[in-house]
Amino acid sequence: MGAVLPVTDVTDEQALLRLEHKYCSWGDTVHYLDPPKFFARADGNYLFDRHGTPYLDLQMWYSAASFGYGNKRLNDALKHQIDTLPQLACQYLHPEKVQLAAAIARLNESKFGLEGRVQFNVGGSQAIEDSLKIVRNATGKSLVFAFMGGYHGRTLAASAITSSYRYRRRYGHFSDRAHFVPFPYCFRCPYDKKREDCGLYCVDQFAKNFETEYNSFWDAKAGEPEFAAFYVEAIQGTGGYVIPPPGYFPALKRVLNDRGILLVDDEIQMGFYRAGRFWAIENFDVEPDIIVFGKALTNGLNPLSGIWAREELIGPDVFPPGSTHSTFSSNSLGTAVGLEVVRMTSETNYEDLVRERGAYFLAQLKELHTRYPKVIGDTDGIGLALRIEICREDGRTPDRELTDRIFAEGMKGDLDVRGRRMGLVLDVGGYYKNVLTLAPCLHMTEDEIDIAVEMLDLLIRRCAPDRV
Ligand SMILES: Cc1ncc(COP(=O)(O)O)c(C=O)c1O
Repeated sequence: MGAVLPVTDVTDEQALLRLEHKYCSWGDTVHYLDPPKFFARADGNYLFDRHGTPYLDLQMWYSAASFGYGNKRLNDALKHQIDTLPQLACQYLHPEKVQLAAAIARLNESKFGLEGRVQFNVGGSQAIEDSLKIVRNATGKSLVFAFMGGYHGRTLAASAITSSYRYRRRYGHFSDRAHFVPFPYCFRCPYDKKREDCGLYCVDQFAKNFETEYNSFWDAKAGEPEFAAFYVEAIQGTGGYVIPPPGYFPALKRVLNDRGILLVDDEIQMGFYRAGRFWAIENFDVEPDIIVFGKALTNGLNPLSGIWAREELIGPDVFPPGSTHSTFSSNSLGTAVGLEVVRMTSETNYEDLVRERGAYFLAQLKELHTRYPKVIGDTDGIGLALRIEICREDGRTPDRELTDRIFAEGMKGDLDVRGRRMGLVLDVGGYYKNVLTLAPCLHMTEDEIDIAVEMLDLLIRRCAPDRV
């Protein structure tokens, strides 16, 4: 007789929570709610608890499920691949890998006029690590710039270029820590300037680093920087959906070009039309040298991430076979779904769809802002990446406590909306953890947006009755 596996059939939530408390490491999870919430089913824009209560999801797995839970077309692509070629070692080829790489490389050729190649991995952080290898290999340098408020993942090297010290504090340094530069967070300008007349003072400050070798970044005699690349999110995700002013990236890119520094664009959260364009960086008229992507590439089905890089950086003569190999890197299930995502997005005008829905949603958020100036300090958005900054009565001081309360109340699932009991799934982000970062399903209808706004209104009135 074989060993008896102690698999439990317990489904009662209280019993499961006790097991979770004892046997699950919390290292791989974020416990925002106490106790954490169970869900039983997902469909379209909604998560459902075991009682069948719907929760309208305004964060869609941090944009991993941007095209909706249970998207039939994408699920069918996965099912087809499971029935055809579900497993294959990455040393062999399968059509979907090649077709997906070619589709993204051609897309970038048409968008940026640049030739390049694509390679794959599984999670976003892994692709970030791979990109660091490409950068180091191409430049012979290991130091990079990144933004304050930026998030690039939690593996060792990804943590080193992610702004939060909290994510590094316990582990020491396994990779070179980035030099962090202030992001143009105009609502809370790091230089106390006003967007209308600042003249992009922040870019001038960055450019000053290279004026003399004594500022520590530049060898004037060799004409060479000590830093290899600048890692950016065109719109900060975890940082609170902060949108830079229009001229910022072109001005920054001029400085980088002058100093021979690569621009690495992290599209893991904002790529695949979240910000109304295939890549968020397209909103800002600059050409990146490297793009890193993940999440919505497979709509959260079999995970897949990847990198596109300019040919000079990634061609096999400079970046040899096996440089970043992983067993699951270009897995057949993920590449099949990724290919279907690219096909699907090329058949529908997602630019117009997301821009129109985003404008409709943002207009309603602005109305909420006008209605509740003692609760909301700022609302902004680009495409369906939207932000609501929750502030004290003065409209400026971050109100983290109220933000947490709104989030927790939404998760109770007891809002009365049009005669139905519902919940609202929100995400809290931002430098001061006072921003509701909204990343709804890209297929959300105007009626569903209305329902979302009704719920936000109910939550504000419930959580801050004395300020409405
Ligand atoms: C901009 C950005 N980069 C990198 C990552 C890390 O990706 P992953 O969580 O798949 O490792 C994330 C995840 O949230 C992200 O938002």
